[in-house]
Amino acid sequence: MKNILLYIGLTLGVMTNVNAQSDAKIEKQIDEIINQLTLKEKVAMCHAQSKFSSPGIPRLGIPELWMSDGPHGVRGEINWDDWGYANWTNDSITAFPALTCLAATFNPELSHEYGVAIGEEARFRKKDVLLGPGVNIYRTPLNGRNFEYMGEDPYLASLMVVPYIKGVQENGVAACVKHFALNNQEEWRGHINVNLSDRALYEIYLPAFKAAVEKGNVWSIMGAYNQLRGEHCCHSDLLLNKILKGEWNFDGTVITDWGGTHDTKQAALNGLDIEMGTWTNGLTASTKFAYDNYFLADPFLKMIQDGEIEESVVDDKVRRILRLMYRTNMNLNRSLGRMNNAEHTQVARNVATEGIVLLKNKNDFFPINPDTNSKIAVIGENATRSMTVGGGSSELKAKYEISPLQGIKNRFKNATILHSIGYASGPSAYGREIPSELNADSLVKAAIDVASKADVVLFIGGLNKNHFQDCEGGDRKHFELPFGQNELIDKLLKVNSNLGLVLVSGNAVEMPWLEQVNGLMQSWYNGSEAGNALADVISGDVNPSGKLPYSYPVKLKDNAAHYFGDLSYPGDSINQYYKEDILVGYRWHDTKKIKPLFAFGYGLSYTNFKISDLTTDKQIYTKGDKIKVSCMLGNTGNVKGAEVVQVYIGKPKSKVNRALKELKGFKKVSLGSGNEEQVEIEISVDALAFYDESISDWNLEKGSYVIYVGNASDKIIQKHKINIE
Ligand code: BGC
Repeated sequence: MKNILLYIGLTLGVMTNVNAQSDAKIEKQIDEIINQLTLKEKVAMCHAQSKFSSPGIPRLGIPELWMSDGPHGVRGEINWDDWGYANWTNDSITAFPALTCLAATFNPELSHEYGVAIGEEARFRKKDVLLGPGVNIYRTPLNGRNFEYMGEDPYLASLMVVPYIKGVQENGVAACVKHFALNNQEEWRGHINVNLSDRALYEIYLPAFKAAVEKGNVWSIMGAYNQLRGEHCCHSDLLLNKILKGEWNFDGTVITDWGGTHDTKQAALNGLDIEMGTWTNGLTASTKFAYDNYFLADPFLKMIQDGEIEESVVDDKVRRILRLMYRTNMNLNRSLGRMNNAEHTQVARNVATEGIVLLKNKNDFFPINPDTNSKIAVIGENATRSMTVGGGSSELKAKYEISPLQGIKNRFKNATILHSIGYASGPSAYGREIPSELNADSLVKAAIDVASKADVVLFIGGLNKNHFQDCEGGDRKHFELPFGQNELIDKLLKVNSNLGLVLVSGNAVEMPWLEQVNGLMQSWYNGSEAGNALADVISGDVNPSGKLPYSYPVKLKDNAAHYFGDLSYPGDSINQYYKEDILVGYRWHDTKKIKPLFAFGYGLSYTNFKISDLTTDKQIYTKGDKIKVSCMLGNTGNVKGAEVVQVYIGKPKSKVNRALKELKGFKKVSLGSGNEEQVEIEISVDALAFYDESISDWNLEKGSYVIYVGNASDKIIQKHKINIE
C-alpha cells in the first residue's frame, strides 16, 4: 500500500506513450490499487462529491476527478453544491466558436487545432475531463441544442470529431463525447423513449460515437437523458454493454449526463461507471450528505454487501476510472496548459472565419470594400448581443467577446456606421422566457429611420441563446425568425433595398424575404472573436469557404422528422418513432425530391471553382479495397479561395431502401486565382456497406454504384460508375 505513490512515479515515462507494454504495466498497477481499496472506497469513486467532481482516495494519494463543460470553451467555476457560479476571478477563458461552426469549416486540421487549444485551456483550469464534444445528429431544426453538435451527416461528424478529441487528449485532459445516444431533441429529453430501426441507429446515429471511440480513442463518454427502447441511455444494456463496451471495445469511463441515472441495479449492471448530478432534495433521505443517496452510492454499496450485485461489478468501474486517471490526473507527464493566449485567439478566429457560410450574393453585394466611406446601417439585436452568455450548460465566461458591430467598426474605419437594434428579445435566460421591456414599435421606427439614411443595410439577426431559442432544456416553438424580425426586414426593404443579412444561429430558419435581399450569410455562435471574424469575411479579407453542415428546408414539413407528424417529432410525451428511418437531412431531400431552401454542403465563395475530369483508379473493386477518386479543381475567379470537393456515393439498385447518395469523402482545397490542382480522395469500399438487420451486421452489396462529385449535395458536377464484385 505504501508503494502507491511509487507506482504512480514509476509510470512517469510511459503515460503518454500508449503501447501494449505500458498498457499492461498500468493495468497491473490498477489491479494492485484495487486490491488495496475497501468496498466503501470503491463505491465512493463511482459517484459525484460535488456538482463537477468525483472523489479520490486521499489515504492512497489518488486524486479527485474534476470535470467541466464543454464543448466550446471551459465553463466558469460552479459552486460545490448548487448550480450558481462561484464568482472566481481567474476563470475567464477564450470562447471558441460553437461546434456547428466547426463542422461548417469541413476542415479536420482546424478541428485538431481547436481541440489542442481548448484542451490547453481545460488543463490550465485544472480540469481532467472536458464535457464535450457533442455529436448528436441534427434531426430537426427545432432542437434547442443543435448548435452544440456537428450537423446532420454521420460521416462529416465522424471526420470532424476525431481530431478534436485527439487535440484535447494530447493535453492529458479527457474528452467526454456526448450525449450517447439519440438525444436529438430537448423536448421531454429526460424521458422520451426513442424507437427506431437498427439500421437508422447504426447508419445515422452511432457512427460519430463509434469514430470517437475507435479512431479518436476517446477516454470518456456521456450517456444521454432520453430512453432507447424502454431503457434510459445512461444505463442502457444495448448501448453501453453490447455496443460501446462490447462491439467497440471501449476501455474508458461512462459518465452519466447530470441527473441521468434512475436505478441502482440497472446503473450497476448496464455499463455506467460514474453517476453525476442526480437530484437529491437534501431534506428527507439526505439530511447529511446528499451524494450518499445517489444510486451508485449507499444503495449500490448495500446491494453489494447483500450479495445482490457481485463485487467484480464495482471493480470493473473502478478499473475504468483509474485508467481514466492514469491518462489524466495521474499522468505526471502532462503539460501545464495555458489560456487566453494569442494562439488560442487565432484558432478561435480562424475557425469562425472558415465556418461562416455565404448563402446568397446578388450582384456581388459582398464583400463590402473595407475602405469605403459610405454610410453602413447595422441593424438587429445580434449585432451587439453577447452569445457566449445563455444556452444552458455550454454558457461561457469569456475573457472578452467582440460583437459583430464592434468587429465591423474595427475594420470599416472610414465608413459611417449607423446602428439601431430594431427588435429586442429580452435578457438571456435558461429555463424561462423573459420578454423585453423595450417598446417594439419605437425600435422598429428607429431602425427604419437609420436604414433610410444609409447607403447599405446590414441586418444582423437570427436566433439567440434564450430559452426556446438555441438553448438547452427546450426546443424552438416555431421555425420562423422570432421577435418580429420577418416583419422588420420587410419594412427595412421598403426604405432601402440595398440590404444584406447575417443570420447568427445554430439552426435553420424560414426565409420568406430571401428573394428580396441582396446578400445572405449564415454565421454562428462564434465566441470571443465573433465580430472580427465576421468583419474578415464581410470585408473580403477572408474569402468565405464554409459549407452548411445541415439542410435548410423551405418549410418545417419538408424536414423528414416533421413530415411524419407528432409521433415522429416530438412524440406523444412518452414515445417517439423515427419514421423517416435512415432518410435524415439531405438523404431525405434527395431521395424524396423535396427541394431544400439551402442544401447540405452548400456555400458560396467570392471566387468561382470548376470541378472536372472525374476518374477513379479502377472500375471494379472488392471488399477491403480503397477507391481512389480524383478530379481537377480550378479557381476560375479573381481571388484566392478554398473549395470543399465533396464525394457522395449511391447504389441505385439495392435490396434495401437507400438514400440516393451519401457523403463518403471530402477535401478542402485552397487555390490562388487562375490555379488548378488535382484532388484525390480515398474511400474505403467497406464504407459502402449498409447495416443489414437480417444478419445484425454490415453487408457490402455487390453491383454497380454511382459516385457523385460536386461542391454541395445539390450541386453535383460529375458522376461516375464503379462496380463492386
Ligand atoms: C447537459 C450536459 C452537461 C451537464 C453538466 C447537462 O444538463 O446535458 O451536456 O455536460 O449538464 O453541465
